[in-house]
Amino acid sequence: MKSSKQAPKAGAKGGTKVGHDPLPPYFNIDPDAAESALDAPGTTAKFDAIARACQAGRDDLASRGLDEAGTRQLRLFSTWEITRYLIPVAQAHFRRVLKAHPDLPQGTSETEGGAKWFTFEEVLRLRAHFGAEGSKSKEYLPYRPDGLPAKIVAVANFKGGVGKTSTCAHLAMSAALDGYRVLMIDLDSQGSMTSIFGGKVADEWDTVFPLLARHYGTHLRTENRRRETRGEAPLPLDDTLTEAMGVRTKDIIRPTHWPNIDLIGAQLNLYWSEFQIPVWRMQARGWKLWDALAEVLEEDGVLDDYDLVFLDTPPALGYLTINGLSAADILLVPFGASFLEFDSTGRFFDMLHSTFASIEEGENIAARALGQPELSFEWDAVRAMITRYDGAQQAEMAGLIQAYMGRTLSPHRQDFTALIGQAGESVNGIYEADYRDFNRETYARGRATFDQTYAGFKELLLGIWRREEKAAAQEAAE
Ligand SMILES: Nc1ncnc2c1ncn2[C@@H]1O[C@H](COP(=O)(O)OP(=O)(O)OP(=O)(O)O)[C@@H](O)[C@H]1O
Ligand SMILES: [Mg+2]
Repeated sequence: MKSSKQAPKAGAKGGTKVGHDPLPPYFNIDPDAAESALDAPGTTAKFDAIARACQAGRDDLASRGLDEAGTRQLRLFSTWEITRYLIPVAQAHFRRVLKAHPDLPQGTSETEGGAKWFTFEEVLRLRAHFGAEGSKSKEYLPYRPDGLPAKIVAVANFKGGVGKTSTCAHLAMSAALDGYRVLMIDLDSQGSMTSIFGGKVADEWDTVFPLLARHYGTHLRTENRRRETRGEAPLPLDDTLTEAMGVRTKDIIRPTHWPNIDLIGAQLNLYWSEFQIPVWRMQARGWKLWDALAEVLEEDGVLDDYDLVFLDTPPALGYLTINGLSAADILLVPFGASFLEFDSTGRFFDMLHSTFASIEEGENIAARALGQPELSFEWDAVRAMITRYDGAQQAEMAGLIQAYMGRTLSPHRQDFTALIGQAGESVNGIYEADYRDFNRETYARGRATFDQTYAGFKELLLGIWRREEKAAAQEAAE
């Protein structure tokens, strides 16, 4: 079929004639017609009406992926996918092992003799079996040194919409598929990560807020003991703080539809922390607000229960982000290969420098005076990474960014993939999507770019864990 250029339609806005380019749409707008198209002026109540309409639509969409009990279900995994991506064995060998062990999950098939499909719980059981019984030369179980705490990973950038949440969610799912036990903490009151994992968060008491409050309350109690010995009146713990003193991390951790991903969710009320934290800090200048999250997680034994803790942060360098960043062992900074995102990311590093330098300075004046060791923040690794990369348009820009950022920038560029937006209401991202819903090649390419993102992250993680394992062994030998 021959293609032909479409002529502009007669009667289009602007009264153009066939064969002529139409006038741009902003000419010939009739003020009277514009007036009659107006709604009543916006009021505060209107925001409420809009919010309710959005909420109803959102609930409609979210409910589509739920089963009858109203819970979200993770899709099934086929023998092909398991042996290709999750348990590295030949399909024939996989089938032989299952046949020889009738007690292992056998999968279900839609048709007689059709492909076998397994739940992710079953995949984990199979992996444990191959890990225990299979060839020792194969990597069935991911490396995790004994006795070392979980690694905390923060994904952050001041710039919005750069792919923080997508990167964080995909890394968490990759790590879970790889067999790690993951805790996801949403520090963004937008709650996007919470939606991805189907979290239900009633109010701020289901978020990290009470944990931060408890850290402050604990500081106040210690401070009050000091005040007592000096004969000063104690600083009161209000109702919120008193209630928070009884909250443990385990109380707010929720399971998700992923058997090895748990969640501490967020919703709008978490934003209250941004106002509350500076008030607390004013009341007790000695409170180390940046240590709150890290210390509470450690105190509550969370770092022994998981392999990885992922923190999704808001597009702001507020108190929640500062807490997340200072808790993190690994900091990932995603951004797109465009001038504005590169520019903004540079400024974000500048803000990180001044923020953490000023905390160190403030602490170290006192530390030096008292002859105590000085505070110096340290991260195992800091990595910037290019996301939503379009090789046809952005190669030159990405090359320039790479030249200036050097080793700070991950060499792998995470491609833009239609799979992310297309996955559907109940399915979030590539790992939750059923490959049969996509063209094989689109699926393979989309998956490859996120697998590569994970591979780059895992290389960092394993390197860091190995370094610590060696240091611990050396310490024990001395
Ligand atoms: N690799 C990718 N390919 C295509 N689209 C992507 C990719 N990564 C992210 N996106 C899309 O870009 C948009 C922004 O992504 P995301 O929400 O992850 O950014 P964010 O930095 O967390 O945003 P915010 O600052 O609001 O928290 C989303 O619509 C997401 O689906
Ligand atoms: Mg986000």
